Amino acid sequence: MLANLSYYTLRELLKNYSFPLALIDLDGIDYNFEFFSTRVNTYSKKIRIATKSIRVPYIIKYIYEKNPSIISGLMCYRIREAQYLFNQGFNNIFIAYPEVNKNDLNILIKMIKSGCNVSITADLLEHFNILNKLGKENNCVINVVLELDGSLKITNSVNLGVRRSSIQSISDLKNRLSFIRNMKNINLYGVMLYEAQIAGVADNLPNDITKHIKRKIKQISIEKVKDFRNDCLEVIYDQGFKPEIINGGGSGSVDTTIKEECITEITIGSGFLCSHLFSYYNNLELIPSIFYAIEIVRKSDENFVTCMGGGYIASGSYGKEKQPEIFLPKGITYTNIEGFGEVQTPFKILDKKLDLNLGDPIILRHAKAGELAEHFNKYLVFKDNKIISETETYRGLGLSFL
Ligand SMILES: Cc1ncc(COP(=O)(O)O)c(C=O)c1O
Repeated sequence: MLANLSYYTLRELLKNYSFPLALIDLDGIDYNFEFFSTRVNTYSKKIRIATKSIRVPYIIKYIYEKNPSIISGLMCYRIREAQYLFNQGFNNIFIAYPEVNKNDLNILIKMIKSGCNVSITADLLEHFNILNKLGKENNCVINVVLELDGSLKITNSVNLGVRRSSIQSISDLKNRLSFIRNMKNINLYGVMLYEAQIAGVADNLPNDITKHIKRKIKQISIEKVKDFRNDCLEVIYDQGFKPEIINGGGSGSVDTTIKEECITEITIGSGFLCSHLFSYYNNLELIPSIFYAIEIVRKSDENFVTCMGGGYIASGSYGKEKQPEIFLPKGITYTNIEGFGEVQTPFKILDKKLDLNLGDPIILRHAKAGELAEHFNKYLVFKDNKIISETETYRGLGLSFL
């Protein structure tokens, strides 16, 4: 397992490479896959692979092929991405974010006409109108996944969670269903509710003084989400709709989402790679399997080494946890004044016994699994503690979807 290698062993393995360098470990992915598959098997659910958290076709395929019988398909983030993966042989693709651009929607039609089992998220009446009109013009039926709001509303103006779906009450739902019923060119294929304030919030971030509040919010949310999902599904079934997929959760909520009887599949992406935020969840025991290495190019004095590059900060609200984390060697720290820089990142040497020289790598972990792929054309693939190949990211293939 790459995560168990010593700094000096890894340094030796990387000595003939140029930096920066992204590393991915198949043994770690195997371990993490087993972690999730044991859970979904216990509850007879399926896994939908979140491609946004991977963005490397070889790795998506690797995970898919580990056990196709427990994978329901892919959760893509763009139509153009879905088209690319369909052309690579994937079917059963769910695009989990609404799209409204005509050019992109025409690609969706092309995919449907080519026999792809593809569905797309919608929640606004406008979304349904656009899709139904498009289906009518092209003489086909578009599979739609209705997204329910999964956020936690404390008051009308305080909303803890993501602002995505407009379906926030049973009456919102009934309103959409009354329109969908009369739309001949869309089919209610599925229902999704993503509980971001549970799945996307780590429990034990270092020095997080708000962690007790976060845990409380999670606790309250788990029950509320469950009730809302069940109440909505009762209405949907009562009205005679028969959605094939009921999608929920993410890597961070596996233990709670999976216990909901109504769920048919849970989305997992980041957990397979275990970017550093996923090391701070109470219910996850994962192996870090994605890293990047930058090289030491200067030493401003005996207490510091400075590397070229390194500053890949994760998206989302500002916070220290969005910075990379130092993986190896142990015994160095970044500086608060400079952090992880655009072209230079200094590290303070705390362990004076460390043998660090010009050209040596420093191994870091990105906070989020998919975003690293936007910085690299290739990932170096490890298996049995050896480098076995290099594989291209979307970026390396000239693909950019966001
Ligand atoms: C709709 C949806 N489902 C699931 C997830 C969880 O993905 P992951 O397992 O990579 O955290 C996300 C992440 O943002 C999402 O947007």
